[in-house]
Amino acid sequence: MDYLQIKGAKNLEGKIAISGAKNAALPIIAMTILAKNRVKIQNTPQVADIKTLIKLLQNLGATAEFKDSTLQIETLNINSTKATYDIVRTMRASILVLGPLLARFGHCEVSLPGGCAIGARPIDLHLSALEKMGAKIEIKDGYVIASANDGLKGANIVFDKITVTGTENIVMAASLANGITKIFNAAKEPEVVQLCEILNQNGVKIEGIGTSELVIYGTNRSLINIDEITVIPDRIEAGTYMCAVAIAGGKVVLENINPDHLVAITSKLSDMGVKFEFGSNFIKVISDGNLKPCNIITTEFPGFPTDMQAQFMALACVADGVSSIDERLFENRFMHASELSRMGADIKLNAHIATITGGKLNGADVMATDLRASSALIIAALRAQGITRIHRIYHLDRGYENLESKLTAIGADIKRLSERVNYES
Ligand code: UD1
Repeated sequence: MDYLQIKGAKNLEGKIAISGAKNAALPIIAMTILAKNRVKIQNTPQVADIKTLIKLLQNLGATAEFKDSTLQIETLNINSTKATYDIVRTMRASILVLGPLLARFGHCEVSLPGGCAIGARPIDLHLSALEKMGAKIEIKDGYVIASANDGLKGANIVFDKITVTGTENIVMAASLANGITKIFNAAKEPEVVQLCEILNQNGVKIEGIGTSELVIYGTNRSLINIDEITVIPDRIEAGTYMCAVAIAGGKVVLENINPDHLVAITSKLSDMGVKFEFGSNFIKVISDGNLKPCNIITTEFPGFPTDMQAQFMALACVADGVSSIDERLFENRFMHASELSRMGADIKLNAHIATITGGKLNGADVMATDLRASSALIIAALRAQGITRIHRIYHLDRGYENLESKLTAIGADIKRLSERVNYES
């Protein structure tokens, strides 16, 4: 197994090109199940989660070619509708195939994703919405067995909670349904918006895109022709590098981004003392490393994203004062707190609220526990005195493309080493 070794306390300077958004590419790849042509997807990040979903589709009979950042998928040959446990258990977002498979074939079996490190994360909202659309759902031997022999029917869906992949699943299912589906309390994340825009531009009329009320006019199981797609930039990757510069100090230009998707993040960082220069598709981040404390409540877009909570906790560890973070979306998303404490952080947890008193960080051996928690440890390590070794970095490989080379290019001292190699002192 590999680990990352980081020597802290270095200024960062240079440029980073941001990759395509993993969380936008995943539903787009699932959406190819609705296509009657070979779909070309540009700016697809080469990260483990994307490769997992491609593998899942290949297991169903699809063909795929993935070179550099161009992915081409043809799903017309799908001859199985069973997404098996061995793949689904490695990535919850595999549940995104449920809606499109059921809509196209009238039957599918998808392994239950189970719990995950950051909380129980049920899929009840996905399932009850599909039932409203006429599906029969049975849970048997760890699988969701869904059928709608005569196809799905348009329905009114009111989500009790805002769910990102739930909205995406139902938008895709509704695209091939018979009749009109209205989704109330839909997610408005940019990744949901891109999925809806692609469908709307390729033969599925969708109204209300970017609002919490979507109206989808189903094609009654007629597959669609999908033009070439370019995945939107990864706002969480961009936010993570902003935090890296904020804590280490320096001047770094982040290229290939959409500043409009980053307002919640840049405005919190501005409050903490970070300076920005904005362009149409780039942002220059300028920091002297002196950070003011922050107060954060995670919420749905356009509010502050839960996927940036861990990274801001790392910043709070060195801020000049007391910060608070209220995690409202997931019940167990503070596992990075105990690892940051190993580096000297002063963090007190009370249910979903963390109180962080800023101070100094020192290098230590720490364990990555989930994708974004891992990036928080990297951010802390960039500021820490001495050497930090971050273990279990397979979590990072799920969602950050070329992380070490991007950080090395802006002056960080970061190496990927094998656990077999003796630690450097
Ligand atoms: C997506 C993102 C993830 C992000 C999260 C919140 C992808 C692939 N993943 O995850 O990175 O952290 O949005 O922005 O896009 N819930 C239920 N029942 C359901 C579905 C969800 O109770 O059927 C709850 C969840 O437990 C959670 C909340 O709703 O408390 C929001 O979760 P959701 O938006 O569904 O997260 P994901 O789509 O899994």
